[in-house]
Amino acid sequence: MNTKSEPEPLTGFGAGKVILLGEHSVVYGYPALAGPLSRGVTARAEPANKCQIHLPEALTQEQRKVLKAAFGRAMEACGAPGVKVSFDTNLPLSMGLGSSGALSVACARVLLKAAGKSTKPAEVARVAWEMEQEFHGTPSGVDHTTSALEELIIYRRKPGSEHGRARVLESPVPVRVVVVMAGPRSPTRTTVGALRERQARWAERYQRIFREIGMLANEGAEAVEEGDLEALGDVMNVNHGLLAALGLSSPSLEKKVHLLRDMGALGAKLTGAGGDGGAVIGLFHDTAPVVYELMRSGVDCFESQLAGPRAE
Ligand code: MEV
Repeated sequence: MNTKSEPEPLTGFGAGKVILLGEHSVVYGYPALAGPLSRGVTARAEPANKCQIHLPEALTQEQRKVLKAAFGRAMEACGAPGVKVSFDTNLPLSMGLGSSGALSVACARVLLKAAGKSTKPAEVARVAWEMEQEFHGTPSGVDHTTSALEELIIYRRKPGSEHGRARVLESPVPVRVVVVMAGPRSPTRTTVGALRERQARWAERYQRIFREIGMLANEGAEAVEEGDLEALGDVMNVNHGLLAALGLSSPSLEKKVHLLRDMGALGAKLTGAGGDGGAVIGLFHDTAPVVYELMRSGVDCFESQLAGPRAE
């Protein structure tokens, strides 16, 4: 019998996220509200002779290249500790639920731990940001910031700076959403790029809508802090209409938004980059019966509490 105990692998968790209000306009400097999901990515680090990543077989050649480059940036930021990092996840991937931000945060946490450095959210966010730039090009930073803080936040990209500012929003009541998968979608980079072209051509019209969405995010933050879920739901519905006006919705997303509204959602909207598919969220006082009903009819969904008091 082997009595020698193997060292426990180090682990780091990165939460997925949903954007409650303000996706896309956040890229242009307007505020957004985003909250962490209970689902996410777990990174594990085992001792190795050099710092390396385990690349899953299922990835395409291009995905392997990007992941390797992103890992290289995090490794450099942490001083390349001697570990081999692997990942597993219970988050639906490429659905607008922040899987790359979650992976970046999980990886940052485990590499910082392995290097014996601080794992305070600001440090984790700094390392994760290196990876996010490799995944997305010019992200607003809302995804990895939400994941690193694990709180419902109002976030704003600081003009002229690569980092944004986040303020944690406390709610006196539970803020619970049902997340429904609407179907596969194009990469965030493609959807963000296509919108950038439209807004460059018709800047005034598009900026008007971004500004309005920014105002909705501020109104949503007030509603959260007052515990006024009816008001928050209404803001979400209006935000969804403006995202559709920006060309970011699709028949599959609309179908799920209306399904959730028909089931009594206080508000429902697409979340994340949207475009030709992705995920939608519905705000409910009580999510459990909704998830039960949806799952019974074969709809891919789960629930998450984003803020407020939690049941013991
Ligand atoms: C993606 O989760 C959110 C977008 O606003 C892009 C970004 O903020 O970088 C669409």
